[in-house]
Amino acid sequence: MYKIVSIPGDGIGPEVVAGALAVMNRLAEKHGFTIAIEEHPFGGASYDLHGEMLTEATLEACRNCDAVLLGAVGGPKWESLPHEHKPEAALLKIRRELGLFANLRPAKVYDALIDASSLKADVVGGTDFVVFRELTGGIYFGQPRGYDENKGWNTMVYERYEVERIARIAFEAAQKRGGRVTSIDKANVLEVSQLWRNVVHEVHRDFPEIELSDMYVDNAAMQIVRNPKQFDVIVTGNLFGDILSDIAGMITGSLGMLPSASIGKSHALYEPIHGSAPDIAGQNKANPIATIASVAMMFEHSFCMPDIANEIYQAIETTLAEGLRTADIANAGQSAVSTTEMTAAIVKNLGQ
Ligand code: NAI
Ligand code: MG
Repeated sequence: MYKIVSIPGDGIGPEVVAGALAVMNRLAEKHGFTIAIEEHPFGGASYDLHGEMLTEATLEACRNCDAVLLGAVGGPKWESLPHEHKPEAALLKIRRELGLFANLRPAKVYDALIDASSLKADVVGGTDFVVFRELTGGIYFGQPRGYDENKGWNTMVYERYEVERIARIAFEAAQKRGGRVTSIDKANVLEVSQLWRNVVHEVHRDFPEIELSDMYVDNAAMQIVRNPKQFDVIVTGNLFGDILSDIAGMITGSLGMLPSASIGKSHALYEPIHGSAPDIAGQNKANPIATIASVAMMFEHSFCMPDIANEIYQAIETTLAEGLRTADIANAGQSAVSTTEMTAAIVKNLGQ
């Protein structure tokens, strides 16, 4: 039995999470396993109920489950709250409390959506890689930091254990994927990158069957756009990963298609990349695919069921090939389906 905590949050969060739960329930039925889904308030929805974006009760539930599924948080209603009550503060707190040190962002191009990319079809066709971004170290957290009138400073620091643990899960992922890891750094300029590179190569000794290459971050930015098919697993630090994962995501087209996972030693949280989309909230227009694909990542990384993950990706691919499009991915003049219609079609394509 798998215990999943669902925190749908605000705006389109509940709409897209409902789609993802429908997919989960169908898979459980089809394959005969049990999932218990417990829903908890989070974000603005929680603030309105309890005066806090993230209550201790929600946090405790997240600590005691196999995986967390998050929709999105925030919206105009809560924008003027003081910093400590802002949705971003709640997101950072949940990641920190659960010890989620790796952020995974796949860049996967669906054949049916090849024309949605801003790059040429023959460049993006067949792209399927994942970025492992270190999430709790590096320049975003290093001390000292500060600024005065004449100077601003931050510190990029990595400790050996921080590099070791993310390198290890990147190599493990490569074992189940295409067997290749590209480690991205700036070792020609930064000492912190020299440590990064040394430690990644040390961890590689435990994975001799995996092909490891190093790449400078500036070259990587070019290569992702020039020939994205060359990558399988990318592993990199917090700052470089922040930028590269956004470049990688956009290769595939729409925000409504992009899933993510944040993983730690004993917890994991899955969520779409996008926000709460207040402009379309409550209208049954949101694309549920990013959240449904986040469930695929859950089966792959938390439950070690890559075959089920592939079933989900396949059902998405089939549904797109049938021509169904939510408004965000519809071509001009094409009529769009609703969130619930897209969900129903994907559930149907999962089969009995
Ligand atoms: P957003 O991602 O919510 O929306 C940007 C644009 O993309 C909007 O036009 C929206 O309609 C569209 N869009 C997003 N997801 C879509 C989907 N699944 N289907 C169809 N269209 C979709 O980003 P925005 O507007 O900057 O932020 C809105 C709110 O969400 C803010 O309060 C922000 O703080 C919050 N936010 C929360 C995040 C999270 O929970 N992780 C991440 C980013 C923003
Ligand atoms: Mg970013």
